[in-house]
Amino acid sequence: MERTRPEPWRVKSVEPIRLVPRRDREAALQAAGHNVFRLRSEDVFVDLLTDSGTSAMSSSQWAGLQEGDEAYAGSRGWERLERVVRGVTGFPHVLPVHQGRGAETVYCRAFVEPGDVVLGNLHFDTTRAHIRNRGALPVDVVVDEGLDPDDPSPFKGNVDLARAERVVAEHPGRARLFVLTLTANTNGGQPVSLENVRAVSSFCRRHGIRLLIDAARFAENAFLVSEREDGQRGRLPADIALEAFSLADGAAMSAKKDGLVNVGGFLALREPEDLEACRPWAILYEGFVTYGGMAGRDLEAMARGLEEGLDPAYLVARIGQVRFLHGLLSDAGIPVLRPPGGHSVVVEAGRFLDHLPRELLPAESLAAALYLHAGVRAVGLGGLAFSEPDPETGEMRPGPWELLRLAVPRRVYTDNHLAYAAEAVAELWAKRAEIGGLRPIGPPTELPHFTATFEPA
Ligand code: F0G
Repeated sequence: MERTRPEPWRVKSVEPIRLVPRRDREAALQAAGHNVFRLRSEDVFVDLLTDSGTSAMSSSQWAGLQEGDEAYAGSRGWERLERVVRGVTGFPHVLPVHQGRGAETVYCRAFVEPGDVVLGNLHFDTTRAHIRNRGALPVDVVVDEGLDPDDPSPFKGNVDLARAERVVAEHPGRARLFVLTLTANTNGGQPVSLENVRAVSSFCRRHGIRLLIDAARFAENAFLVSEREDGQRGRLPADIALEAFSLADGAAMSAKKDGLVNVGGFLALREPEDLEACRPWAILYEGFVTYGGMAGRDLEAMARGLEEGLDPAYLVARIGQVRFLHGLLSDAGIPVLRPPGGHSVVVEAGRFLDHLPRELLPAESLAAALYLHAGVRAVGLGGLAFSEPDPETGEMRPGPWELLRLAVPRRVYTDNHLAYAAEAVAELWAKRAEIGGLRPIGPPTELPHFTATFEPA
């Protein structure tokens, strides 16, 4: 039997949640156009839509809010945040941004030109959209195992270097940026090994490609490396993370994940020229360089959260809870991506609802069914979320997968909440043949999964 893993914190303040009756859930889903993104939080019982911006802050972070210095320029919170980001990443230059896509706006404006290809292990949806918005092409070069749901390999976020070489050869002079995402969000938070980061770094140096780390979940990546990688076992996550950053030219972070805050982010850079290239865009889009779209108190909370997010005792409990949910679903025979990753458990909606063709949106249909059944909100990441125009024909192509992601907010739910969610998924699995599909209403838009409405097919 596995050892019990008590969380290294106790609860000080609670927020009531309730399961609204089934007929109210039906009405809520109807009003939301069957898209769970459009539901009111009040109508949701256990919310596993995202791990982003949903963390519970610590008493120290709440105290930090009170100490926030709201000066427009040069606030105390900024000084502290800059010091912490430098310490955690080793990068000397820090630009605060209001969230991850603020960093994406800035670095894509500075480093991406129309016609470029931007390499990545598995670009997340907002990153892809930002790259395309600059007239460039996002290209994923993850290892084959990364896209194979059943492959038990420990580092399914790794880059296939041979594939990356081919992309560079096919687009001479057009590959100038590589975004390495730690951990890979799309396949359930699968980590990248430190050995692979080293290989990507030397590949990028050889080809004169700038390497940025998407650090949204860098601490979870480092923790998984400390568990799974030969030669790294038992090493402190903070040391592993620092080494990974030392191999790159910069990092973009949505602190709403491993930064344990409800809003915030940063762009950190090694070279003064890169800072010069980004700074004007940061000021234009995000605000002055000592607040970046945040209140002074947010900077303070983020500085504290970044340090707490690297605490090994916290990470043991955090990753342990995700693994607990994965175990419950896997034991119930539900098709989930293996092995468990960092922040979420991902159900293969295509296999779960194998009677539905992709036009009937298995991922979104399963998300709607789960909400209706138990008030649990997860997110469908399927053909719709990752649909993109074909570079040649311009026609919309669905992404590679139909997935339902149950993302686990940090320090928010107990194991009981997750067991409840797992039971609900298992009950749906038992009557999966009864679950119908959905059809989109209206024409497709950019990032359609956020706003689209559907009707039962
Ligand atoms: N990079 C990664 C790997 C992400 O997962 C996200 C957001 C972003 C960048 C953008 O950051 O939301 O702060 O602007 N992922 C969220 C999610 C939305 O639910 O996985 P943001």
